[in-house]
Amino acid sequence: MRVLFIASECAPLIKTGGLADVVGALPKALGAVGTDVRVLLPAYPGLLDGLEADGEAIPTRPLFGRRARVVPGRRAGLRLLLLDAPRLFGRPGNPYVGKNGKDWPDNHKRFGALSAVGAWLADGKLPGWRPDVVHAHDWQAGLAPAYLALSKSKTASRSVITVHNIAFQGLFPRKTMAELKLPASGFVQSGFEFYGEVGFLKAGLVYADAITTVSPTYARELTTPEYGMGLEGVIAQRRGSLTGILNGIDLDAWNPASDPDIAVPYDRSQLQGKSKNKAALQRRLGLTADARAPLFCVVSRLTRQKGLDLLLDALPHLLWRGGQLALLGSGDADLEKSFAAAARANPGRVAVSLGYDEPLSHLMQAGADAILIPSRFEPCGLTQLYGLRYGTLPVVAHTGGLADTVIDANDAAIKANCATGFQFAPTTLSALRDALDRACDAFADKRLWRGMQRRAMKHPVGWDVSAAAYAALYQQLAGAPAGAVVP
Ligand code: ADP
Ligand code: GLC
Repeated sequence: MRVLFIASECAPLIKTGGLADVVGALPKALGAVGTDVRVLLPAYPGLLDGLEADGEAIPTRPLFGRRARVVPGRRAGLRLLLLDAPRLFGRPGNPYVGKNGKDWPDNHKRFGALSAVGAWLADGKLPGWRPDVVHAHDWQAGLAPAYLALSKSKTASRSVITVHNIAFQGLFPRKTMAELKLPASGFVQSGFEFYGEVGFLKAGLVYADAITTVSPTYARELTTPEYGMGLEGVIAQRRGSLTGILNGIDLDAWNPASDPDIAVPYDRSQLQGKSKNKAALQRRLGLTADARAPLFCVVSRLTRQKGLDLLLDALPHLLWRGGQLALLGSGDADLEKSFAAAARANPGRVAVSLGYDEPLSHLMQAGADAILIPSRFEPCGLTQLYGLRYGTLPVVAHTGGLADTVIDANDAAIKANCATGFQFAPTTLSALRDALDRACDAFADKRLWRGMQRRAMKHPVGWDVSAAAYAALYQQLAGAPAGAVVP
């Protein structure tokens, strides 16, 4: 089974969030179950360096009048197809926004080209490798299923699109349709039109043979107006083709027993190593060295999705309970400012690192007692999975993948010895405060906390079950006639 991933991010090469983690880890897990995955990714600056050759580069048809090529290569355990089009992708930094913080004005061209080249590769343009299935990730690859479905040459590839986050839809003005070579007949409600604009994600949802999202709960939520962000109708219509497959994590990259970015390695049987990481984290961030203070961490984009405005409101309560907070994140200017102010106002108790720092994110997971994720919505969430693996108990909102991966420490779960964290609902200040209380109470009960940590660290968070689910979906798709509804 040959599968072409199309994505705009891939860890460890280029990452702004969980999409990259998934695209970097899932192909390896699929490889282990006999699926041959190649990842089509833009050749952002530096990506071609250090690439181990994996066949000849092939010129594509001109992209917006410029020459481009696809460079096959191996890196970081992945087989990559890098789209080398310097005019489109030769820009350092964040893949979507320029230095002024605004989206690149030609993003429709950049990711339209990525999608078009994906569809072109599906047509057998790579010598000796024609994918059975094209797997598009998020809006950046959303036009690929449309190009495939609308193309006159009937290709043998089937397509699937994964929704990692419906909040990002890739909407562009109607006039881009001509540049993108999309047929005017598709500019209708049952096509890629979305309230008068061209919708990249909508195109994927309409034209892909199957749709997946990253947790079963989010799959259900997506069909409702509260979570569907205007696309709930389209998704509800395609309910029969939609599955929720939970994300996993890369167990090698995230392993407290061998993580090079943490102070002391540890595992379930030597949790004293975790205490040393706590001391190291407190030292590194200028927090008071205090083993008895419950240390909560946050590693997150700072956006409304993540509910961190509520955490700011709950902070006095957290501190009153004797807790400490370590936050690593970047995003909305208001939130950055408010958290920086909270750190200044509470030296030794609140530490805030603004920016993106992969090694520090590992030390935070190793050193904190608990990780806070008060999201308003969360398609899957990966930081709670890292938390479970590192014995850093997740305190999470009951939504999306957070609901599917954390077992709340209610009385019954404590008695049954199955709790791994704390959930709260709805995502409100009082519910969050309640959850913080429960976490602080549990932290004070050393036996209970240790038991939960050990259980959390045993909770299966790898990719094997979900990779098998994707492999089964690809098999089903490859065996189905064109246009059939899967599963
Ligand atoms: P999302 O994709 O919505 O941002 P996820 O929980 O799925 O949320 O994934 C976020 C990923 O990005 C995780 O790997 C997390 O560790 C990482 N991350 C988020 N913010 C930072 C940061 N400031 N520094 C380092 N890593 C970060
Ligand atoms: C998105 C979601 C996040 C998910 C990630 C990977 O960025 O916000 O919940 O874990 O994609 O699928």
